[in-house]
Amino acid sequence: MNVTPLVVATIDEVRRAVAAARSRSLSLGFVPTMGALHEGHASLLRAARQECGFVIASIFVNPTQFGPNEDFKRYPRTLDADLDLCRREGADVVFTPEPSTVYPHGFRTYVEVAGLQDLWEGAARPGHFRGVTTVVLKLYNIVQPDTAYFGQKDAQQVRIIEQMVRDLNLPVRVRVCPTVREPDGLALSSRNRYLSAEEREQARVLSQALFEAKAMIAEGARDAGTIREHLATRIRETPGAVLDYVAVLDANSFQEVPHLKGRVLLVLAARIGTTRLIDNVAVDMAPCRTGDVSV
Ligand code: PAJ
Repeated sequence: MNVTPLVVATIDEVRRAVAAARSRSLSLGFVPTMGALHEGHASLLRAARQECGFVIASIFVNPTQFGPNEDFKRYPRTLDADLDLCRREGADVVFTPEPSTVYPHGFRTYVEVAGLQDLWEGAARPGHFRGVTTVVLKLYNIVQPDTAYFGQKDAQQVRIIEQMVRDLNLPVRVRVCPTVREPDGLALSSRNRYLSAEEREQARVLSQALFEAKAMIAEGARDAGTIREHLATRIRETPGAVLDYVAVLDANSFQEVPHLKGRVLLVLAARIGTTRLIDNVAVDMAPCRTGDVSV
């Protein structure tokens, strides 16, 4: 471990590295990212390193998943630090393509996961998930991994990718890793670095509210409206925070539920200053004994 990964920018180079790994019968783990890597990304690389013989990370700020008024241009690009992290976590190959490599002139084919892509994050960011599924499918086709690693932090993204894998019979296992948080609960995100010191304080409310809601559920709350109201109120009360959406969802359909049962997700999005952050927690209710809850 701690060997400098091979850094490649072309599809041919990735394919050659993959073929070499395959000829050694190594299983292939893949961690797609947009860079500005942090401990959340590191946890995915670590899981891949533990479970696979060969680990490929990609670093690509994917233009098609950003809206026209979003932060594509100013999205943090920190390649040297990212490569250090990939080395520390034992990645074998880091794929850092140019946009023109992924989307050559004349590109016109997109993947859509109908319905799911238009809810919540998709409603707030039209076209976002179409860009995500398109680039992830392309990266799957380039890398052809056995297992790909994603974070629960982006719960809807994971759900949509799982659906795409199922619908298109992609021979890739999707592994979902838990959200990595700062000691005060804030979910790690590449966008946290946009926050001023004051906003960083205000941003704590997102995870705090979610954990409070989780505690309410552990104490027996089952009415989704009550939970949603608590989440919304906590965020509205926080100066500097502007609520985008908050919802209590069935983890499979991503539709709102009136009463909590089965596996549910508490999801929210809010703007802290000009920075838009998302977070979620999953709650599993035992099917028969409604008092039981594991989170
Ligand atoms: P990015 O935001 O760089 O995230 C890459 C992966 O890291 C995603 O699977 C994301 O869920 C995971 N991740 C981010 N923060 C995390 C945290 N705090 N804990 C655990 N995992 C975390 O998500 C994307 O890039 C892009 O949409 C991508 C899938 C690469 C397609 O462009």
